[in-house]
Amino acid sequence: MNMPLQQRGIPASRLSLGCMGFGGEWDASKPITGEHVKQAHEAVEAALGAGIHFFDHANIYTRGKAEKVFGQVLKERPGLREQIIIQSKCGIRLYDGDDEAPGRYDFSKEHIIASVDDSLKRLGIPYLDILLLHRPDPLMDRYEVAEALHQLKFSGKVRYFGVSNMSAGQIRLLQSALGEPLIVNQLEMSLLKAGFVETGVNVNQAVAADNVFPEGTLEYCQLENIQLQAWSPLAQGLFSGRSTADQSEAVQNTAALVKRYAEEKNTAPEAIVLAWLLKHPAQIQPVIGTVNPQRIAACGEAVHVTLTREEWYKLFITSRGRAMA
Ligand SMILES: NC(=O)c1ccc[n+]([C@@H]2O[C@H](COP(=O)([O-])OP(=O)(O)OC[C@H]3O[C@@H](n4cnc5c(N)ncnc54)[C@H](OP(=O)(O)O)[C@@H]3O)[C@@H](O)[C@H]2O)c1
Repeated sequence: MNMPLQQRGIPASRLSLGCMGFGGEWDASKPITGEHVKQAHEAVEAALGAGIHFFDHANIYTRGKAEKVFGQVLKERPGLREQIIIQSKCGIRLYDGDDEAPGRYDFSKEHIIASVDDSLKRLGIPYLDILLLHRPDPLMDRYEVAEALHQLKFSGKVRYFGVSNMSAGQIRLLQSALGEPLIVNQLEMSLLKAGFVETGVNVNQAVAADNVFPEGTLEYCQLENIQLQAWSPLAQGLFSGRSTADQSEAVQNTAALVKRYAEEKNTAPEAIVLAWLLKHPAQIQPVIGTVNPQRIAACGEAVHVTLTREEWYKLFITSRGRAMA
């Protein structure tokens, strides 16, 4: 079975490299250095070597520096643009010191169009392959968004559109005003944030109190052939090497189980963590956020790992800390 993006003729790789860590710190006053550019070159090289040619950006990552550094890599590596898929996002406005203008979401036509123009300028490219609306703006006027997306599509600045952190209902509402299909929904999904599984298995049961994953979203995206992308799929390394000393017993036990499976399958712990997401029939695309070349290579091994049903459930049960009902 192909991923939804592939079914639409978009040759996406099974994994995506998230570029939130490119460009150093989020402090806008700290300039981009040669070291940041070198790091980005090495991460891109490692990604390509691991079969990853799908790159996830956002206009806000490291306050624009991530896109700028990536643009530098594209400039210094002719031919790269044609080999890769570039996705970016807009719709979040960060607090920039003006107390009258708090950090907020903004789906106004003006902001969407200006954000894309700025991203293209930083990346040094004429079009984005995919643009995601980053987080749902409660003041969203779907017809205004439709005008913005229409303009971006017909000016050739964006090829495809999607959303992030949206429920099925929110996507349906927005889609009802659009001429273009929304083809991606990016949400937090991992062994640590397994709400996407909990929602399904808790139907007709007492729902886990901490589960915030919107019911019906997974099903809706599958029905509409919308690519689900998982952000923070590595849980920032919690199960694959980061210290778990101050973590819960469930996290510690899961890290130990991941390590055991990795040893048994002669692969990296990162590959086990991602293989758990990859086994889901929705064909979820993990968006890994590491800039470390060795870790990127370790993640790439995930596509060669097969977990049995029993191993998949044992990982899920260990991470949730309780047996299935
Ligand atoms: N749509 C959204 O709202 C949204 C929100 C957040 C993120 N995202 C996207 O998702 C991508 C991934 O998110 P993420 O970076 O939060 O999650 P992640 O892939 O789960 O974690 C990556 C982070 O964890 C660190 N890490 C991984 N393994 C480690 C280990 N063994 N020891 C120590 N540190 C380790 C990495 O550091 P190193 O770089 O040193 O390996 C990196 O900072 C982002 O780049 C972005 O593209 C989207």
